[in-house]
Amino acid sequence: MSDQPSHPADDADVDASRRGFMQSALLVAGAAQLPLSPVEAAPASGAAAAATPVVPPRPLTLNVNGTEHQLSLEPRVTLLDALREVLQLTGTKKGCDRGQCGACTVLVDGRRVNACLTLAIMHQGAKITTIEGIAQGENLAPIQAAFIEYDAFQCGYCTPGQICSAVACIAEMKAGTASAVTPDVRQQTVAFTDPEIRERMSGNLCRCGAYNNIVTAIQAASAQTRA
Ligand code: FES
Ligand code: FES
Repeated sequence: MSDQPSHPADDADVDASRRGFMQSALLVAGAAQLPLSPVEAAPASGAAAAATPVVPPRPLTLNVNGTEHQLSLEPRVTLLDALREVLQLTGTKKGCDRGQCGACTVLVDGRRVNACLTLAIMHQGAKITTIEGIAQGENLAPIQAAFIEYDAFQCGYCTPGQICSAVACIAEMKAGTASAVTPDVRQQTVAFTDPEIRERMSGNLCRCGAYNNIVTAIQAASAQTRA
């Protein structure tokens, strides 16, 4: 501890950096309250000026379920919010919004992704598939039909994510991609066992506890697609 009195110039420096810190914190807090876009016209003045985006929207193209969408989004917008709030594809659900529940699972170039954990702007040029794009025209995909046949849901909130995840799960097993429970990772094939399915689907939670029927439905759909 120093007994020397502080110099007035030092106090001014401390005040300036404190002011800078408070201004940054307010900007960040304000950004969290901003609308998601599409872009709003910049307000003229006054209190409304606080709604001006901190980072301006950028043009981007998203290919969702085979359709190209030209958008203008702030870089901070997650893929989940872009799908739900901008494209109105509300089949993809928001559960935890922090990567814990899997309700927001979509497919990006065939791989499952938690849409709440990734930014829309990162997926230009990728093929994004949501639950709205899983059906084959007017016909349900085998996995959708199996979920209905085997009663693999109750409230249905987790179901879009479960189905998207199941599509990738079946593809992974068919491709022989090992999981944490594959007995011999040197083998190029994976047995379609219940433990394999449970392990691969472990990122998708179901508060209704429909797990047994979900596994049964995936077994049935995978048997059908392998036949
Ligand atoms: S909403 Fe994305 S993991 Fe829960
Ligand atoms: S069916 Fe209700 S959370 Fe899964």
